[in-house]
Amino acid sequence: MSLRPASTPQQRADQVLERLAELFEIGRRAGTNRPGLGEGEQRAHDLVASWMAEAGLSVEVDPAGNLIGRLPGSDPSLAEVWTGSHLDTPPDGGMFDGALGVVAGLDAAAAVGAGSVRRTIAVVAFRLEEGCRFGRGVFGSRAMVGDIEPDEGDLLDADGVSVAQAFAELGLGRLPTRGWADPKPACFVETHIEQGPALAAAGAPLGVVTSIAGMAGFDVVFSGSRGHAGTVPMSLRSDALGAAARFVLAAHEVAGSIPGAVATVGRLVALPGATNTIPGRAELFADLRAPDAAGLDALVERATAAAAEAAAAASCTAEVLLRWRYEPVAMDPATAAAVRRAVAGLGLDPVDLPSGAGHDAAIMATAGIPSAMLFVRSDAGGVSHAPEESTGADAIALCAQALESALRELAA
Ligand code: GLV
Ligand code: MN
Ligand code: MN
Repeated sequence: MSLRPASTPQQRADQVLERLAELFEIGRRAGTNRPGLGEGEQRAHDLVASWMAEAGLSVEVDPAGNLIGRLPGSDPSLAEVWTGSHLDTPPDGGMFDGALGVVAGLDAAAAVGAGSVRRTIAVVAFRLEEGCRFGRGVFGSRAMVGDIEPDEGDLLDADGVSVAQAFAELGLGRLPTRGWADPKPACFVETHIEQGPALAAAGAPLGVVTSIAGMAGFDVVFSGSRGHAGTVPMSLRSDALGAAARFVLAAHEVAGSIPGAVATVGRLVALPGATNTIPGRAELFADLRAPDAAGLDALVERATAAAAEAAAAASCTAEVLLRWRYEPVAMDPATAAAVRRAVAGLGLDPVDLPSGAGHDAAIMATAGIPSAMLFVRSDAGGVSHAPEESTGADAIALCAQALESALRELAA
C-alpha cells in the first residue's frame, strides 16, 4: 500500500479500513487466522512495522516480540503515552478485534505528528492476546510487566507446539522472565471494537470503558469408563461425556444466577472419540467471567462444585485445574476522563460501559499503568470472534479523531 497523506476524517477512515482489510487477508479462510506467536501474527507485525516506518515512527521489537512504534515528543525526559492493542486473532476471527486499536493508534499518532506534543507517543502491538491457542493469553502485555509464569513455555497448542518453541521459531530466543515496562508509561489508551450490542442500542458510535471484567479459566477433566456402545446397560455406565454435558449446563445456570456473570465452554474433547465407544474421558475448558470480584469468587466456587456434582451424577470423577485468573480492574479515572472529553469534543454523548472481554489494558492497569479504553460501536448485532464482526466507516472516522485528541491532551 502506498503512503499518502491522510488528512480529512474521511480519508483517514478510508486508510484505516484499507489497512484493516489488508490485515484481514493474512491467514484468510472464512475469517482471518493469525494465532498468537504464529506465522500470521508475525506477518501482521511486519506489515504494521512497515506502516509505522512509512509514517516516520521509530520501530522497536521488544523482548516479548511486541512491536512498538515511537513518535518522539519534544521532551524525551517525560514518561511516554502509549496506545495500541493486538494483531493476533481467534480462529476465523473478524477484521476489527485487536487490529483496530493498532491501526487507529498509528493513524492517530501520525495525525498528532512528531514534536507537536511534549511526550513521546508509542503505538504498541502486543503479542498473543487471545487465549485460545495455548489456553493462556495477554502474553505480550504480561511479559512487559514481568508476569510470565516459570512453566508457561511448556503450554501446548492443539498441534503439540509449545509456547517456548513457537517463541523461539520466531527468532525471539528464550521466554522473557522479567518485565521491562520501566520507567512506566504515563498512561495507556486502548481503542477496541465493543464486541457487543450496547453502543448500537444506545445509538452511540463511541464509548468509554469504566472497568474490565474479572476472568478465570479452568481445565476440567472427567474420567469414567470406556465400554461398548451396544452392550453396557445405561445403569452401569460411567460416561465421561455425559458428566461433561451436565457440567456445561450447570455452569450456564450458575452464571445466570450471578449478576453480569457469564460462563462459556468453547472446547470439549471426548475420548477416544469413536462413535460406538462410551467416552471414558472428556476434557473441556471453562471460561468464567464476572464484573466484580465477589461475583467471580461465587462463580468459580459454584462452577467447581458443579463439576464434582456432574461427575457424581454420571458415576465419574472430575479434576479441576485453574489455569488463570485475572481480577476485575477499573480504568484510570483521569485517563478515561481525557478519552471522554475527546469524545464529547466531537459533539457526541460519551457513553460509559464496562467491558466483558479481556484486554491488554487490564494487564497494564493491574500493573499500575493508568489505563483507559475507547470502545467503537459493533454493528451486525455486536457479533465478534467471528468473520461477520463489523463496524461502520462513520464510527471508524469518529474513533480516529477522538483518539487523536485524547493523545494530544495526554501527551501535551
Ligand atoms: C479476548 O478476546 C477475550 O478472551 O476476552
Ligand atoms: Mn478477541
Ligand atoms: Mn481484542
